[in-house]
Amino acid sequence: MGRVTNNTELPAFPAEGDIGSILLTEEQIQTRVSELGRELASKYAGETPLFVAVMKGSVIFVADLLKAYPGPVQFDVMIVSSYGDALETSGVVKIVKDLDTPAAGRHVVLVEDIVDTGLTMKYLLDHFEKQGAASVSVCSLTVREGRVAEPAVDHIGFEIPHDFVIGYGLDAAQLYRNLPYIGVFTGTLEDH
Ligand code: IMP
Repeated sequence: MGRVTNNTELPAFPAEGDIGSILLTEEQIQTRVSELGRELASKYAGETPLFVAVMKGSVIFVADLLKAYPGPVQFDVMIVSSYGDALETSGVVKIVKDLDTPAAGRHVVLVEDIVDTGLTMKYLLDHFEKQGAASVSVCSLTVREGRVAEPAVDHIGFEIPHDFVIGYGLDAAQLYRNLPYIGVFTGTLEDH
């Protein structure tokens, strides 16, 4: 039991040619996430905010952010899809799973992996406002450089260039979410 293969060599991972460069190392990410945790805790001192993670891309970020948050906090997930399995946005945001915890009267912190066009964020901000949230702020690990500043991202981990990136929750065709760093994807989806 537990033995999958007789091969002693591990398969090459990431596959050769899939990562052009490492944009954010594991250490850079961990340092910044700790800072964001403390920043949010001092902002919400005396409150119990509701962190809402947008799946699946925020899965690793929100886990680390919650651990870095020294205070009472609740957590819920939403599943939205906007990209399908392609690298281009479809322009359509669809709620696949809504909150279990009502947002009414709550201080909601929307936890995002990346704000690219901002379409997903805008859609969700409207959604929480319609539900009567007491306040909504956005904490995104990454945002695209030079994006239109509206709606504002209140807490930003890193500004990143326009390359397609993978790792630390971000995927290419559902792969590479498990990388502990963020790298530039230089592969082709047909390979996977
Ligand atoms: P937006 O609605 O254009 O801001 O895009 C939001 C979603 O697009 C993110 O939550 C990601 O799932 C996806 N996305 C945008 N850029 C990238 C990227 O470079 N790598 C992986 N996913 C991305």
